[in-house]
This record gives sequence, structure tokens and C-alpha cells, in this order.
Amino acid sequence: MSALLSDFTPDSHDRDLLLTATRYWDDVLALAVLTPVFWSLCSYFLLPKKHEPGYDLLFASPQRQDGLLSEKEKTSEDARDINRKLNDAATDVVVFWGSQSGRAAQFARQLARELHSNGIAATAEDLDLYDHEHLAQVSRDKVLGFVVSTFGEGDPPDNAAGLWDALREFNKSKTDALSGLRYFVFGLGDSKYEQYNQFALNIDQQLQEAGAQRVGDLGKCDVSKAADDGWMDWKETIMQQVSDLVPARLPKTVASLYEADIDITDLPQDDPALPPALLAAELGRTKVHTAPVSSSRLLSAPGSRAYIHLEFDISAFGPDFTYSTGDHLAVWPMNSDQEISRLAALFGWSPTVLAAPINITARSSTDTTTLALGQTTRLSLLRHHLDIAGPLTVQTVRLLAHFAPTPESKTYLNTLLASSTQVADLTSSHTTLAGVMALSLSSSSDPTPGTSTPITWSNALFPLLLQTLQRIQPRYFSISSSPLCSPDKVSITVGVLTVPVSNTDSTQPTTFFGLASGYLLSLHQTFQTQVQGHGHGHPSPGTTSRSPVSPPTAPTYTLSPPRTPTPTLGSPNAASHGEGSCTAQISLRPSSFRPPTDPTVPVVLVAAGSGVAPFLGFITERAELRRRGGKVGRCLLFFGCRNPTEDFLYGETWEQIRSEHDFLEVETAFSRPGEQGGEEEGKKEKMYVQDKLEERKGEVARLVKEEGGRVYICGGVAMARAVKEGVVGGVEGGGEGFGGCLVNGDGGLVLGGFDGFDDD
Ligand SMILES: Cc1cc2nc3c(=O)[nH]c(=O)nc-3n(C[C@H](O)[C@H](O)[C@H](O)COP(=O)(O)OP(=O)(O)OC[C@H]3O[C@@H](n4cnc5c(N)ncnc54)[C@H](O)[C@@H]3O)c2cc1C
Ligand SMILES: NC(=O)c1ccc[n+]([C@@H]2O[C@H](COP(=O)([O-])OP(=O)(O)OC[C@H]3O[C@@H](n4cnc5c(N)ncnc54)[C@H](OP(=O)(O)O)[C@@H]3O)[C@@H](O)[C@H]2O)c1
Ligand SMILES: Cc1cc2nc3c(=O)[nH]c(=O)nc-3n(C[C@H](O)[C@H](O)[C@H](O)COP(=O)(O)O)c2cc1C
Repeated sequence: MSALLSDFTPDSHDRDLLLTATRYWDDVLALAVLTPVFWSLCSYFLLPKKHEPGYDLLFASPQRQDGLLSEKEKTSEDARDINRKLNDAATDVVVFWGSQSGRAAQFARQLARELHSNGIAATAEDLDLYDHEHLAQVSRDKVLGFVVSTFGEGDPPDNAAGLWDALREFNKSKTDALSGLRYFVFGLGDSKYEQYNQFALNIDQQLQEAGAQRVGDLGKCDVSKAADDGWMDWKETIMQQVSDLVPARLPKTVASLYEADIDITDLPQDDPALPPALLAAELGRTKVHTAPVSSSRLLSAPGSRAYIHLEFDISAFGPDFTYSTGDHLAVWPMNSDQEISRLAALFGWSPTVLAAPINITARSSTDTTTLALGQTTRLSLLRHHLDIAGPLTVQTVRLLAHFAPTPESKTYLNTLLASSTQVADLTSSHTTLAGVMALSLSSSSDPTPGTSTPITWSNALFPLLLQTLQRIQPRYFSISSSPLCSPDKVSITVGVLTVPVSNTDSTQPTTFFGLASGYLLSLHQTFQTQVQGHGHGHPSPGTTSRSPVSPPTAPTYTLSPPRTPTPTLGSPNAASHGEGSCTAQISLRPSSFRPPTDPTVPVVLVAAGSGVAPFLGFITERAELRRRGGKVGRCLLFFGCRNPTEDFLYGETWEQIRSEHDFLEVETAFSRPGEQGGEEEGKKEKMYVQDKLEERKGEVARLVKEEGGRVYICGGVAMARAVKEGVVGGVEGGGEGFGGCLVNGDGGLVLGGFDGFDDD
């Protein structure tokens, strides 16, 4: 098609027509080429196949390998001394990472790997695995890196808390304990937060105060701009600066940035060897549990934004899973079958290739930074390990451009790279990895007419993607139940993230689903199908009973647990093939966002949308205590949502509790009152929770100051910030402050430092 254009000089109208026709035929041909591959992958996988015993372990998900280790399994005291690592392994550069959701860890591993492949003895290390008082003994010819994100409100990620304590201890002694130590810092943060990149700034300041010397500039990534904003340029510069300081003592393992330093080899289909790490998981040493769904409900009106209540049965886990009200549940999501199929089609992988056992080895025995070394399958990597649907990074687009299979696709990708706004546009349009690969191909010359050989991407790209893409991380959900009411069940409230996608290629769906929330929606829909089929499905306490299935329909997932014998890409019914197929991998994360230990303390709970999740646990717990004859304090809930008919989460539950007890009062703020209501509703003003709080601040202040009450805030970051500013303003302006306040905005826990605050 494109060739036709060069021999022809039409006027502009003709040219437009021709261009339109050309694009049309390009699309048709791309569709013709990719669709059969895509559907053959989908349909082929529906057929169950027999494999050797133990084969299914190759599909086990990553958390079963690196799981959450128990305290006793943490490294010995010697191994927690970074000097041993530096000396025993003859390492010159350690890139420590402090990371909550995995991005900083991925960056650190990438930097260490690139230094290593350039001959520098470098490694990436989890901060939590070391005791940082040993930093004072680190030899001054070494270089330490800190790639850290910021959490809470300017706080360290969980695994960096020890470093923070150690640095402050060094400075308390005022002895220049780290004098001459060489270090570099890169921070990951989000400028939507008030304390942007504050933890990186804080550790830099503490290191300097202790006498350490920074190498290069402090790098910063603002993830609200791009997932790897600022990273590539900073990385290139710091690699050069570090190379000037430490000798390259190792042989170079790769010749260029576009060569991976891992090898992927095929294994015989019936290789009986099992990956050792998985055998460890088999002994039950990890704390990730495969939990069956015991109940699920749609909380919002069908057709509007979906909120679901999901309950898991934890009765089989015993003391391993003893939760408290306000704790968080980590849910390990997986990629959808559609996204896996699209990517497999682009690599030209048949279902047999996807499912074949492979072995991944590092070229250097000291490389500990690569994902999934050992035995696995491409399918397992795509389903459980690699974040193939997440935001695109500049580095990924660069790799794609290098490996682009046609001149046109290379030009397409290079044009994208030439303009930072175009990359940003692509990211904001929620294009996935498979999406951008397919888009770039749709700009390509057609394969020879009449042949059906699709254009595919080189297999050499895959190991590089393995080293570059973010690993799938668990997502956290506030627990919505109370162990007092349901010790054997744990429930969560999930707001399903859906975004309409406009920049679509022919195989891309028109709605983007959040990775975890789309997966959980699918779990809900599948559970409903199963339950309806079996005639069960009684509402559980704290849930509303609306129509069980609502649009939009989630993508499909192979929901059966990793150890079932036929781990195939499935259909919408894949989960209904057997008992126990409606399960999720979950783990518990303790939180300090807990109700007061004394239940008679009055509480003011402020939430918008799914932020109400933990408060369902708080309130049902008080109702249960009251039911058992106990005394409970007043509970004033401020709740913000769009309108009463669309997303007034748990409205019926509050009504029921209020009909039985007098401790609860609910104040609602509707932001889109007219959208579902009649004419009268339409005239009402848009309200946010902070407006309602402002209206009643005198009363709330009295509740807190005179009756010792507490204020808790939970929801999105903008809401939490606005509410907190209102509260602080009340205090600073000499007005009526609310005393103590706990904020839980987007999971970040903050203790308000107001007078009268008394942490549990
Ligand atoms: C402690 C804590 C408690 C929480 N409690 C709850 C709770 O009780 N209930 C609740 O509903 N949520 C809760 N959350 C939020 C929850 O953990 C998830 O963040 C949320 O469900 C969205 O996750 P997801 O995987 O569905 O979305 P993701 O896929 O992770 O998407 C996250 C963001 O990245 C963007 N994005 C993803 N992929 C792309 C792409 N390819 N291109 C461009 N942009 C992209 C999305 O648009 C979105 O803005 C909590 C968070 C924390 C930290
Ligand atoms: N433990 C936790 O930390 C935790 C627990 C649960 C949820 N969350 C977080 O809470 C958020 C809830 O999101 P959601 O999608 O359910 O709801 P949402 O998008 O925050 O919307 C809920 C309501 O809040 C309103 N709102 C929007 N901006 C606001 C602002 N600046 N101030 C006050 N109200 C505002 C919305 O109004 P309009 O849209 O009509 O303007 C809507 O009525 C998520 O980000 C989730 O991650 C955190
Ligand atoms: C609950 C929560 C709190 C956060 N608090 C801050 C903050 O105070 N300052 C900031 O710059 N970024 C903040 N962020 C943004 C993270 O630092 C950012 O998402 C980063 O990419 C996370 O990197 P990680 O995956 O390595 O943990 C916060 C993110 C979340 C989810």
C-alpha cells in the first residue's frame, strides 16, 4: 500500500482519500494477520492437555518463590553486615533499594546489572536485609547507591525504615561517622504528594551531615509525569561517574545495551527436575495463601462504576493469618488471558512454545539481580511475573525501537521517542506493551499479499524485556471486616479502575481495567456464575444485595490456582472447571490505622469512595460489641460519593445498624447529585466530605477535645489532603482544631501531629 503512494501525485482531496483508504487496508491487513493468530491462541488453550507430574510447578506464581519470608528465615547477623558482602564477594558498588511497590527495586537492579555488564562488580540489595550501623565500616574505595521511593507523607518505604533509623543514630553521635563514604541517591516520588521525594532528600541530608560525599546529582523521578521520568538520563550520567571512581575488574558480559546478560534455553518437555525455590514453597515456608472466595457482592448500581465486596475464607490458615481491624490485605494479581495472547501473537509464539519448559541462566555467576532465574515457562512469566499491562517506560519503547521488525515500525517508535510529549500521550492513553507493538506494526508495509505470515518480533527482545519490565506487585486493600465478627473470613471493598481507551489497535479492548481491580472484578463475576449455578450466594453481613453481575465485563483470567494440573489460558468459564478455582493469592500486612483500643472513645471517620473500606470493619465491630452488651463510643461517619443511587457504598448496612443502635451517625456528601436523581436532586449542589466537615466542625472539635475523640481519614490523596488541611487550618487559625487525626490517603498512613494525639 505505501509503495503505491510514491508513484502517484494526487491533489490534496485525492491524497486524503487515498491515505484513508491506505490506513483502512493497513488496518484490515493487520487485523487479518493478527486476528487468526490471536484467536487460535485463545481457542487452542481451551483444550486441556496432559503433562508430566510436577510440570505444573513451572507455572507457580513468583510470590511462591520469593514469598514473604518469616522472621526466622531472615539472614543471619553476619550476612546482614554489608561489609561482608563487599569483601567476600569482591563487590565495589552496592545499589540498595528502598521500595514499597517494586519500581525502585526494578531501577536498582537495572543499574546494578548494567554496571556489572560493563565490568564493574556491582550488585543490587534490599535495604531490609542489612543492619545499617555497619555502614560506618564500609571501605572508602567502595560506592553505595540508594534508589528509594517515598511513602506515607514523606516517609520511608517499609524496607528502608532501618536505614532511616541508623542514619539518624549516626547523626545523634555527631562524630562524622560516615566521613568520606561515597554514595549516590535516586528518588522515586509523585509530585501530587505534598512531601515530593522527601525520603530521598532526607537520606541525602542525613548522609551529608554524617560526613558522606555524594557522587553526582540527586536524581528524581516524578511518576505522575512518566513511570521512568528522569531515570534514563540520570542513569547514563551516574554510570559514567561511578566508572570514573571504581575499576572495571570483571570482563564485560554484553557488547551493547541491546544485549541481555541472561540466556533462555529450552528444556525437554518431561524434565522431572523441579525448581528448588518452588520446593521450598512446597514446604509451606511462605506466608502467601491461596484463599477461596466465600462471598462476593456488587455494591454499586449496575452500569455505573463498579465497586465490589469480596470475602475470602481464611479458616484453613490458622494462626498464620490472624488479622486486626484496619489491617491491609495484599492481593497478588495476574495478567489477563487476552493481554498474554496479544503479546504471544506478536512474538509468534504458538501455545506449545508458550507452555514449553525453559531454563533462565545469568551469564555471570554473581548476577543476582535478574528476575526468575531457573526453570519456568514463557506462559508463567507472562501471566504471573511481568507487568505487561503497566505504564510504558521510555526504556521499553527504546528497546522496541531497536528490535522493531520493519522500517516503518522503527520509524513509528523513533518518532515517539523524539518527543517526550508523544511518549507521555501514549502512556496517558493506557496503551500496553502489546498495544504499542501492534500500533507500530499497523504503520508497517503489509506482508506479501496473499501470504498469511504475520510480522513478528525477534525472540532476542524477550530476555531484555525480562530484565526491564516491572515485576507484578501485590496491591493492598484495607480489610473491611472485623475479626470479632468474622474470625474465619476476611473481606475487602474494591473500586474497579476502568479507563476508556481511544488509541486502540485492532486487537486492543476499548476499556482498560486496572491490573488488580480488573482481576478481582473477574473473580467476582466468576464467583457469581458459579454460585448462581450452584444456587448459593447469601448476602454476607456488611454487603448490599444488588444485581450480582454488572457491566463492564472484566477480561478473562485463568483463575485456577497455579498448582492445578492443566494451567491453560482460559475462557470466561475457565474458573468454573473445578472446585476451588475461585481463589486468590493473598497475604496479610499489618497496619497502624486501627480503631482506638478503647471502644468507648468517640470516632469521626472521613471517607470518600472505596476509602470507606476500613470503616466498615470499625463500625461493624462496634455494632457487634454493642450486640454483646458492651459500651461503645459515638461514631460519626462522613462519606462522600457521587450520588445516593449510584455508589452509596454500604448505605443499607448503615441503615440496619442505625435501626438497632444509637452510636452511629452518617453524614453524606454527594458530588454528582443530579446524575441519577430526579429534578429536585438535579438542583442540589456538588458537595465533598470536607464541605460537610466544615459545616459541622464546631461539633467535631468538641467531640475530639472534650470527649477525647479521634479523627480518621481514608480515601484518595486529593481528598485526604484537603480534609487534613481543613483540620490543620482549624488548629493553626486559632479556630477549632480536631485534636488527633489519622490519615489513610491512598494507603499512606500519617499521624497528624496535633495536640492531644495519642497513638495506639
Ligand atoms: C494501603 C493501601 C490500601 C488500599 N486500600 C484500598 C481499598 O480498600 N479499596 C480499593 O479499591 N483500593 C485500595 N487501595 C488502592 C489499590 O491498592 C490499588 O492501587 C487499586 O485497586 C488500583 O490497582 P489496579 O491494579 O487495579 O490498577 P493499576 O493497573 O495498578 O493502575 C494504577 C494506576 O496506573 C495507571 N496505569 C496502569 N497501567 C497503565 C498503562 N498501561 N498506561 C498508563 N497508565 C496505566 C492507571 O490508570 C492507574 O492510575 C489501597 C492502596 C493502598 C496503598
Ligand atoms: N487504606 C487506604 O489507604 C485506602 C483504602 C481504600 C481506598 N483508598 C483509596 O481511596 C481512593 C478512592 O477512590 P474511588 O475511586 O473509590 O473514589 P474517588 O474517585 O475518590 O471518588 C469518591 C468521591 O470522592 C469525590 N472526590 C473527588 N475528588 C475529591 C476531593 N479532592 N476531595 C473530596 N472528595 C473528592 C468524588 O467526586 P467527583 O469524582 O464527582 O468529583 C466522589 O464523590 C482510591 O484512590 C483508593 O486507592 C485508600
Ligand atoms: C500511599 C502512598 C503514599 C505516597 N506518598 C508519597 C509522598 O509522600 N511523596 C512522594 O513523592 N511520593 C509518594 N508516593 C508515590 C510513590 O513514591 C511512587 O508511586 C513511587 O513510584 C513508588 O515507588 P516504589 O514502587 O519503588 O515503591 C506515595 C504513593 C503511595 C501509594
